[in-house]
Amino acid sequence: MLALLARAPRRTRALSRFQGTGARLAASAWRRWFLDRHAEFWLGQLGSAWSPSELRARVVEVIDETADTRTFVLAPNRHWPGHRAGQYVAIAIEIDGVRVRRCYSISSGASAPGDRIAITVKRVVGGRVSTWLHEHLTPGHVIGLGRPQGDFVAPTSASPLLLVAGGSGITPVIAILRDLENRDAVHDVVVVHSAREDADAIFGRDLAVMALQHPGLRLVAHRTATVGRLDAATLESLVPDLATREVYVCGPSGLRGLVRSIAGDRVHSEAFTAPIVCAPQPDLAVRTVQLRDRRLTLAGTGTLLEQLERAGEQPAHGCRIGVCHTCRCTKQRGTVLDLTTGRISSEPDEEIRLCVSIAHSDLELAL
Ligand SMILES: Cc1cc2nc3c(=O)[nH]c(=O)nc-3n(C[C@H](O)[C@H](O)[C@H](O)COP(=O)(O)OP(=O)(O)OC[C@H]3O[C@@H](n4cnc5c(N)ncnc54)[C@H](O)[C@@H]3O)c2cc1C
Ligand code: FES
Repeated sequence: MLALLARAPRRTRALSRFQGTGARLAASAWRRWFLDRHAEFWLGQLGSAWSPSELRARVVEVIDETADTRTFVLAPNRHWPGHRAGQYVAIAIEIDGVRVRRCYSISSGASAPGDRIAITVKRVVGGRVSTWLHEHLTPGHVIGLGRPQGDFVAPTSASPLLLVAGGSGITPVIAILRDLENRDAVHDVVVVHSAREDADAIFGRDLAVMALQHPGLRLVAHRTATVGRLDAATLESLVPDLATREVYVCGPSGLRGLVRSIAGDRVHSEAFTAPIVCAPQPDLAVRTVQLRDRRLTLAGTGTLLEQLERAGEQPAHGCRIGVCHTCRCTKQRGTVLDLTTGRISSEPDEEIRLCVSIAHSDLELAL
C-alpha cells in the first residue's frame, strides 16, 4: 500500500491525504454529533439546562403577580445570545409526551449572554400551556427556549413616548420601561395601563413605584371596571400631545385598533392573539395531506397546524398566530385560505404558515 502510494503522482497523493483528512473530519463530526445527541437525551432526562447545542433555561424563581398571573425567572444556558428589551421568546415544554411551544414576551429588561431573564404568564381559562405552566413549572425545572425574536423593542432615540398596555400586554411594555430606567433614559414617558381593576393590574405596583421615582414618567392607571373601556376621546384627553409622541401599544385587538386609529402608522404594535381578518371556516369535508413519505387524513375543523397535530404530527411552531414564521412550509399543490388576509390561493409551490391556513382542498406539503 505504502509502495503504491509512493508511486502515485504527487497530485493524487495530495488528494488522498486530503480525502483521508476529510474522512477523519467527517468521522469526528459524526462521532461529535452522535455523542451530542446522546448527551442531549440524557441531560434532558436528568433535567439539566446544560446542552452542547440546545438553548434551554432553568427556572430559578416563581413570583405571583396577580391571582392569575405568574412571573417565571429563568437562567438560560450558555447558548442564550442576549436580547433587546421588548422582544419575545418561544418556550418548549412537554405535556403528555408531546412537545408544545408558546411565545412569551420577556418581561425583564435587555439581557446579555449569561444574564437571567423573566417571562410573565397570564393563565388563560382552558389554555393548554399557560395552565400547565401555572400548575407544574417550579424552580429547578428545565424548559426549552427559542432565540429572542420581534421588533417591538425599546427606542434608542430620546423622543417623547406613549406606551399603551392592556391586560397581559403590559409584559413587553414593562420590559421597555425597565430598559429605559437602566439606561437612565426615562425623560418624557406617558404609560396608559388598562386593566379591569387594581387587583388585575399586572405590574400595577411596579409601575406606581417607577412613576414615584421618575419625574419624567406619568402613569395613567385606567380601570375599566370603574370608568369603562378606553375610547378615542378619553385617550386623546388623557394624552393631549399624543401626536408628538412615539407610540407603542400591546394588548387586545380592540385596544391596538383604537390606538392605531388615532396615531396611524407611527404605532409600534405587538399582538398576543391572532390578527385574523376572516373567521375560521367550519370546513367539514374530509381532506387529505400528502407529505413526502405519507398521506394523512385531516380530522375536524381548525387550522392546518391544529389538524396536523391531531393527526399525530409535530410540525415546528412558535406563536401560533402567524407572527414568527416558524411554521412556514411549501404548499406544493392544493388550495388554502389564509386567515390573516382572507385570501384563498391555489398557487403551486407557495409558502404558507400552517397556523393561519385552512385547507380548502386535498393538499401536498413539503414539511
Ligand atoms: C409574540 C407573543 C408574545 C406573547 N407574550 C405573552 C406574555 O407575555 N404573557 C402571556 O400571558 N401571554 C403571552 N402570549 C400569549 C401566549 O403565547 C399564549 O397564547 C397564551 O399563554 C395562551 O396559551 P395556552 O396554551 O394557555 O392557550 P391555548 O390552548 O393555545 O388557547 C386556548 C384559548 O385561549 C385563547 N387565547 C390564547 N391566548 C390568549 C390570550 N393572551 N388572552 C385571551 N385568550 C387567549 C385562544 O384563542 C384559545 O381559544 C404571547 C403571544 C405572542 C404571539
Ligand atoms: S407558529 Fe408562528 S407563524 Fe405559525
